[in-house]
Amino acid sequence: MTETVAAPPKTAGLEGVVVADSEISYVDGQAGRLVYRGYSIEELAERSSFEETTNLLLDGELPDGRELREFQSELAAQRELDGETLEAVRRFPPAADPMSALRTGVSLLGLTDPDRGDEGREATRRKGIRLIARIPTLVAAFDRARRGLEPLAPHGELGHAANFLYMLRGSEPDPEDARVLDVCLVLHAEHGMNASTFAARVTTATLSDIHSAITSAVGTLKGPLHGGANEAVMKMLREIDRRGVEPAAHIREMLAAGSKVMGFGHRVYKTMDPRAPILRGFSRKLGERTGDDRWYRMSEEILTTMQREKGIDPNVDFFSASTYHALGIPADLFTPIFAIARISGWVAHVEAQYANNRLIRPRARYVGKRDLRYVPVGERG
Ligand code: COA
Repeated sequence: MTETVAAPPKTAGLEGVVVADSEISYVDGQAGRLVYRGYSIEELAERSSFEETTNLLLDGELPDGRELREFQSELAAQRELDGETLEAVRRFPPAADPMSALRTGVSLLGLTDPDRGDEGREATRRKGIRLIARIPTLVAAFDRARRGLEPLAPHGELGHAANFLYMLRGSEPDPEDARVLDVCLVLHAEHGMNASTFAARVTTATLSDIHSAITSAVGTLKGPLHGGANEAVMKMLREIDRRGVEPAAHIREMLAAGSKVMGFGHRVYKTMDPRAPILRGFSRKLGERTGDDRWYRMSEEILTTMQREKGIDPNVDFFSASTYHALGIPADLFTPIFAIARISGWVAHVEAQYANNRLIRPRARYVGKRDLRYVPVGERG
């Protein structure tokens, strides 16, 4: 048996393959630039908030004052979980990892959403807003339940980032902590055709619903080569601390063993990820403020070693780890926080996919056996 038509060449990991036009964000891997809807990430990090950036990503333009207030109120009004979902989250096994809990929680929200079954443009937007508003509540509710604490109702007067910290900690956060988290959410909100966004778009392209798309995205973000890297960085920092070795020596050992150092390298950026220097600044400042700068100092030594030994720069996940740790957040919530931010980009991409849809269906090159004869089971030796 020979091929009737020669298969096109394979592109491992779909590297360099363009699958859509997008107006949502621009990732310039050569120059190390990231732009949301025309605005640079540096400017948004300095001047915008997660709510405003989300409004920008969804609607394509910065809101005016009234639109922003309305959007903030809409998000705040949608934060609470329905009773069935909250009850289910309370019963999740406490030992479950929070990304699996979130994946299941998003799927549950799809069972109770008042717009379920309606994949129209307006219903999808309403479902998207509810997901953006409720994902932080899901994460915080699971975290409190697993610690044997009662989940807290969202605080309607607090902004998105501050409310999340409140629901985790049980007290209103210091405004500086809330602002750091707010900027982290802005930095993580959107990033072109990354793996989880692609997963959301593949699901959407079958004309499935937004909860299915976001469930696919959360499952994809979980992996250590994508969103799971920030938690893996913290594990590495703790391991270095536990061993009491020089960070540089630990990294050299890892490289000699052929291991990847989490938080470094990127498929698109061939220079420093533009989000990394902003997080590096937070990690330094928070280390100084908390009086425990060892995680920041360790991170700096690892960075120097990686640049010297491999010529590889850090990505968004590297300094996120020491930043979130300094905010008192447990390491296994680092990737859920990535999801709390990236849901904005996912919703924008789901809407864009519906608006200009074609089934996403690549091919595989068959390299298996051919021309075998079926032998009945009784005659197989
Ligand atoms: N540590 C050590 N070496 C690394 C590395 C890392 N973090 N990232 C890339 N490299 C090396 C690879 O070993 C490979 O070297 P080789 O050509 O000698 O084999 C080369 O750089 C290319 O890496 P590759 O894995 O093929 O690149 P990719 O585009 O498929 O992968 C990532 C990109 C992000 C998956 C990869 O850099 C990685 O695994 N990083 C760690 C996980 C991480 O931080 N993910 C979050 C991304 S935001």
